[in-house]
Amino acid sequence: MDWQSWHENYRSFSPLQLRLEEVCQQVTEAINAVAPSRVQVLSLCAGDGRDLLKALQSGHTSKEVDATLIELDPGLVEQGRKAFAEHGLSDSVQFRCADATSFATYQGLPKADIVMVCGVFGNVRGPHVQQLIFSLKAFCRQGARVIWTRSLNEFDDGETAAQEIRGWFAQAGFQETVFTRTPEGTFAVSSVAYGAEQTPLPSTGRMFEFSAFWEVH
Ligand SMILES: C[S@@+](CC[C@H](N)C(=O)[O-])C[C@H]1O[C@@H](n2cnc3c(N)ncnc32)[C@H](O)[C@@H]1O
Repeated sequence: MDWQSWHENYRSFSPLQLRLEEVCQQVTEAINAVAPSRVQVLSLCAGDGRDLLKALQSGHTSKEVDATLIELDPGLVEQGRKAFAEHGLSDSVQFRCADATSFATYQGLPKADIVMVCGVFGNVRGPHVQQLIFSLKAFCRQGARVIWTRSLNEFDDGETAAQEIRGWFAQAGFQETVFTRTPEGTFAVSSVAYGAEQTPLPSTGRMFEFSAFWEVH
């Protein structure tokens, strides 16, 4: 799968542009809503990080933000590092070019106030979706928000998948704060809050399996 080509969809595919707007808004709201004045963000399968960059550039939050973006594709990491550097953010935003499915990748990172899981669930199948959601607890400080997306396309019954994801987040101890569909109905974008105790992060093992599809997720 050529994920750099996938990112080209942001130029012309309006549903993805609308998803970006919504993610940016929810990330901005989350930055303002969480308690710490210095906010720690973690993004899984972050791509070039444009959603976080857009939120940080929105002018709607004045908090300090530190972020770690996990992304496997070195070209996207390079692109993302350059974009954040152009905005003077290279000291506070770090890319980790690594496998987001492996617990080992996250060793040494601080617990997060905001965890971004955007464009991921459409590429995860069966029991791995639930496994991923339950694992997210280990990244969260108490009061953290997770922002997630899911395509609602019919070919893989996205609407049902989105409802299952909502249910699993609830079972895992997250409380939904926002659930919305992009205006033309192509994507669900949601925020959930984690109010329970912090849980330990396993040091080894596989958190989920990522199976790429050609559709825009
Ligand atoms: C659908 S894109 C989403 C990118 C970004 N989160 C967004 O919403 O714009 C999926 C991303 O996951 C990355 N990816 C795929 N497998 C990965 C893995 N095992 N570890 C980290 N990133 C991975 C791809 O390179 C791609 O950038």
